[in-house]
Amino acid sequence: MSNKKPETGAFFQRDRQWHPPAYTPDYKTSVVRSPQRALLSLDNTLSEITGPVFGHALLGELDDDLIHNFAKPGESAIGQRIIVHGRVVDERGVGVAGALLEFWQANAGGRYRHKREGYLAALDPNFGGCGRTITDEDGYYRFRTVKPGAYPWPNGVNDWRPAHIHFSVFGHGFAQRLITQMYFEGDPMIWQCPIVKSIPDKAAIEQLIAALDRQNTIPMDARAYKFDIVLRGRRSTLFENRMEGN
Ligand SMILES: [Fe+2]
Repeated sequence: MSNKKPETGAFFQRDRQWHPPAYTPDYKTSVVRSPQRALLSLDNTLSEITGPVFGHALLGELDDDLIHNFAKPGESAIGQRIIVHGRVVDERGVGVAGALLEFWQANAGGRYRHKREGYLAALDPNFGGCGRTITDEDGYYRFRTVKPGAYPWPNGVNDWRPAHIHFSVFGHGFAQRLITQMYFEGDPMIWQCPIVKSIPDKAAIEQLIAALDRQNTIPMDARAYKFDIVLRGRRSTLFENRMEGN
């Protein structure tokens, strides 16, 4: 647990030029999910600036290892082995200690382990697709997984999601809660995706793309991708229109 003093002040307004608008018709479900009336602006109260505190006792031994946390003893998930790591920082660039990160993803073939999944790609019996970890004193996190595959989804006639990992982040207050997605450097599918294209600013999209990190690659084991996350404020990572699924 962190010995640093937790954040107690009010948070900045979310920058709505940077985050995608709620209503983006090319992303079909945004039409029915977006507000139909003008938003109300409310002052921060204790309900927004406080939140649950998470300790490492919460975590299981393999929670940050998706290659093994669903696998049979002695076996492992199929796919390209990767390390995903980075820092969770606040709008001033200060590391957020004790933040809970939860992540979920499709397997290496692009298939989710979900009863409503409709894609033909095979399930991997050794891959569940969920994990979690908590940031250290400096806001640093790290987990191990396989690189997810791209998958089709029912939006337009033939839309495919780029390879991505979903993130949920709990910082120090409910107003810092962030749901986002991480993409992979060099993937041409990113720029064809209707969900990605709902983000108006190219720089904001690039903030969601993890960089291939040769420095932290483990020889003969795993490549590394670096993904930093900014909670709230002008440079914050994008907040998704939709909480789960695609
Ligand atoms: Fe997804």
